[in-house]
Amino acid sequence: MTTAHIPLPSPRRILALQELVLAWYRTEQREFPWRAVHPDPYVVLVSEVMLQQTQTSRVAVLLPLFLEQFPTIHALAGASTAAIIKAWKGLGYNSRALRLRECARAIVERFGGLVPGTAEELMTLPGIGPYTSHAVAVFAYHADVTVLDVNLRRVYSRYVTPQDTSADILSDKELLRIATALQPKGHASAWNQALMDIGSQFCKASTPRCATCVLADSCASAHRIVTVRKPRRSEPSHRDTPRRIWRGKVLDLLRECATGTTAHTMATTLIPAADADDTAWMERVAQDLVRDGFAQRDGGRYRLRSE
Ligand code: ADE
Repeated sequence: MTTAHIPLPSPRRILALQELVLAWYRTEQREFPWRAVHPDPYVVLVSEVMLQQTQTSRVAVLLPLFLEQFPTIHALAGASTAAIIKAWKGLGYNSRALRLRECARAIVERFGGLVPGTAEELMTLPGIGPYTSHAVAVFAYHADVTVLDVNLRRVYSRYVTPQDTSADILSDKELLRIATALQPKGHASAWNQALMDIGSQFCKASTPRCATCVLADSCASAHRIVTVRKPRRSEPSHRDTPRRIWRGKVLDLLRECATGTTAHTMATTLIPAADADDTAWMERVAQDLVRDGFAQRDGGRYRLRSE
């Protein structure tokens, strides 16, 4: 059985698209601390890990602060858990901080402290998956490989074939074929960052702004996408607040309190008129933080892990 592929634009149209996107990026690109003509691969690596789950505007503010504390890969590799968790404040999804330190240690041990330059080598590092390995190879070393993140998946899916709803996205197999055909040789960094900018400013997930999008004249989905809401994942919660948020609140308390704190104090600090159920909930949240390597328990007190 043969599978029908989505037809690609003609070579002439692909060339026109490439010129349009690269010209747009030259004048309209967003300025970020990780974007430079000769970027530092260490900075690109840290920024890409931060950008996996944190908004660009937030990373733009917090990355320079993080780099003040850990200006080199050696400084990061030698950081204590408490220091790195404190420096990660405001970025969320704290396990990334510990994985990033593992990655820095592996780079120091296996690559003499130099961030490797190919997606294959990057993929062998702890915590580095297909997206981050390709992004670092492209943005730090201008490697001619494709990048697929949530923005690029959306832009490519909508551009090449008419999509009906805001949730429709092509398969990764198709997207890889499309990205390989459309990406201009020798311009991987500008191309991919341009599509990220277009994806986040115009080709937005639920409400695309086709009226002002630079790609609207040739985009197959321009002005036709119907917004649909994706169902939210349910997760355990306490007092109508999801566990993920409580983890963040408790970690924030531990960041502020070097001598540690008890579950009871966490409950009374975070919840007006806290009761025994609240203390039990804080105990579970804190124990999860210990299990995940962020915190330690000394007697009845919890604090950030010291080593
Ligand atoms: N998201 C991930 N990497 C990015 C980059 N280099 N520029 C903008 N947004 C991004």
